[in-house]
Amino acid sequence: MKGVMILMKKYKLAVVGATGVVGQKMIEVLQEKNLPISEYVFFASSRSAGKSLRFGDDVYVVRELTEDSLKENFDFALFSAGGNTSLKYSPIAAHSGCIVIDNSSAFRMYDDVPLVVPEVNPNDISWNKGIIANPNCSTIQAVCALKPLDDAFGLKRIVYSTYQAVSGAGSKGIHDLENGIKAFSSNFDSNALSNTSNNNYELEKFPYPIFNNCLPHIDKFLENGYTKEEEKMINETRKILGKPHLAITATTVRVPVFNSHCESINIEFEKEFELENVIEVLKKAPGVVVQDNPTKEEYAIPTQVSGKDEVFVSRIRRDFSIKNGLNIWVVADNIRKGAASNAVQILEKIIKEKDLI
Ligand code: A2P
Repeated sequence: MKGVMILMKKYKLAVVGATGVVGQKMIEVLQEKNLPISEYVFFASSRSAGKSLRFGDDVYVVRELTEDSLKENFDFALFSAGGNTSLKYSPIAAHSGCIVIDNSSAFRMYDDVPLVVPEVNPNDISWNKGIIANPNCSTIQAVCALKPLDDAFGLKRIVYSTYQAVSGAGSKGIHDLENGIKAFSSNFDSNALSNTSNNNYELEKFPYPIFNNCLPHIDKFLENGYTKEEEKMINETRKILGKPHLAITATTVRVPVFNSHCESINIEFEKEFELENVIEVLKKAPGVVVQDNPTKEEYAIPTQVSGKDEVFVSRIRRDFSIKNGLNIWVVADNIRKGAASNAVQILEKIIKEKDLI
């Protein structure tokens, strides 16, 4: 009996921002996934052009991104090189027939650009016009937990409070924490509880030392007193869940943790609920792991979640101060699920659909 032969197309993929924190992770995730891609091209700025990058057994040379680079018949491009680079180069790539998956915030709120988390709104991929936006890292992990709860009990209001790792601010953010630790250890003082002199080092990213501190300030301040990060969480959650008027507020805070964001999410539901049903819904949710065992002091923490693609939910408990209120603690690797893995999952979904594999 003759078997049916499926011809798999091999694709050409660009990674823009390949030397950055997210770009490097995209390359790592691409290696793990082994997608049908025959040609990879890695772009960064002129600063990195000529550097070598390892991909499996192969060594690639990083190329400088120019206006002509993306006219070379790419099928897909993963962008993570900041908003300005995306604004300038993504449309060029899209006009050449390439599908761009953009990790910057540049296009996220455009009406004709889908904002996608594959576990939450995969069908939105279908109406893309060449650019698909990868949501903000804090939003991705939140909506993975919120979507199944919305389907079951109806979201009425959300209060986000975040504890965000420095890796979300790129390599400069990581350097600020590293340099703070070095400065502190080189002149440790047992009076450090009140001592600020150990914070005397040059800052690359944050306005204040991040080591031994918490900064209630992520991205720029807006005229209404919120930060752009807080605005992103509010607007992106509404867009992904398809609920433009959902009541949401947010306070986003940078903490001295290298990787993985934590979020305390306070939820008010439309419907009454039993806690055991909430836990059941979360246990069945795609990409979500419930890790919640207070009697054994088990809950999700950044050092244990880093390196994983799932979103971990802990501290699931009723908010007794309101009707139908719930509190949850949500932790995810902001560079993997919050950026690189989510983008590569979108790519994987498109390829699977194209190739029917
Ligand atoms: P480069 O390494 O050459 O500066 P991060 O925020 O983690 O530092 O990463 C930012 C990424 O975006 C890096 O890969 C950086 O490249 C890249 N990048 C920044 N500006 C541009 C640009 N104008 N064109 C292409 N890539 C850029």
